[in-house]
Amino acid sequence: MSDLKKIKDDFLLKLEKKLSLSEINEIKTNLFGKNGLISSQFKKIGSISESEKKKFASELNLIKDELQNQINSKINEIQSEEINKKLKKEKVDITLPERTFVQGKIHPVSQTIDEISSIFSEIGFSVEEGPDVETEYNNFTALNTPDNHPARDMHDTFYLDEKKEKLLRTHTSPVQIRTMLKDKPPFKIIAPGRTYRSDSDQTHSPMFHQVEGLHIDKDINMGHLKGCLNYFIKEFFEVKKIKMRFRPSHFPFTEPSAEVDIGYEIKDGKIFIGEGDKWLEILGCGMVHPKVLKNVKVDSTKYQGYAFGIGIDRLAMLKYGINDLRAFFDCDYRWLNHFGFDPLDVPTNYRGLSR
Ligand code: DAH
Repeated sequence: MSDLKKIKDDFLLKLEKKLSLSEINEIKTNLFGKNGLISSQFKKIGSISESEKKKFASELNLIKDELQNQINSKINEIQSEEINKKLKKEKVDITLPERTFVQGKIHPVSQTIDEISSIFSEIGFSVEEGPDVETEYNNFTALNTPDNHPARDMHDTFYLDEKKEKLLRTHTSPVQIRTMLKDKPPFKIIAPGRTYRSDSDQTHSPMFHQVEGLHIDKDINMGHLKGCLNYFIKEFFEVKKIKMRFRPSHFPFTEPSAEVDIGYEIKDGKIFIGEGDKWLEILGCGMVHPKVLKNVKVDSTKYQGYAFGIGIDRLAMLKYGINDLRAFFDCDYRWLNHFGFDPLDVPTNYRGLSR
């Protein structure tokens, strides 16, 4: 058998096996590399007799072309096999169900705080904040609350140290003190936030929310207080008329002091705010006591004004028909899904304060 025939037969034998890309490349180098079998045959041409040369050269060229073609088609075959394998592996299974999209809800308390803030901001109130951990001085003493006042009792207040100097604020009223100590009058602020008392049942939770209001200027009187609260309650409950009464009360930081009740009635198990012959207490208020103004170095012969404190959770329960206060703080996702607000579909009297 001639050398050429042997090279070709060996090659065809190898090609019958399943080859990888690197194996076929190795075969290619063995044949066509610098010292490859085919390349060495070409080198031989010079030493062959003239009569044989032509035949040998044409045979060699034929074999060379044939082997090269076979190698190239084998390489193509292996490459397309690999691509197909890869494509199969990376196939997207369009029959998979889509991932569920969970949209968060705005908690009714956050929603109510936003509504209250936007209503008051429309009549010139700005929003102040104070810390949950307060000093005894800001929470009680500066607010003219005497040492023997029941609110100071351990049963009512969460004290944070033995000396009773630090506590969890029992109301948002200390923000009045912080605001007046930090700036000069006039003041026209509201302060929403968390408050704490040692109390827990269907209508009381140890943590709850209040919004404080304070308006101090040169000629502020109780008529302003009444007008402001009347406007707020109508806007908040989205009613045109509201039955409202001021009931004399006592708070150490206001003189005179009052509690405000609003009229309501229940029809077919539903509560209607604004009219009816029943009364519901919703807030405390009064004219800021001169002693409080003295404590924050505001001249009470020149400046005076009103303050109020509203329970936010109570308002939210009334407006949105929620009857157990404790559900607000249970962190039950199903409850939030039901009573919470869609951030993309905000209720009508939301006026666009950024949250
Ligand atoms: N701080 C009072 C409370 O928690 C509420 C209150 C009453 C606030 C009268 C006031 C006010 O600013 O003037 O019960």
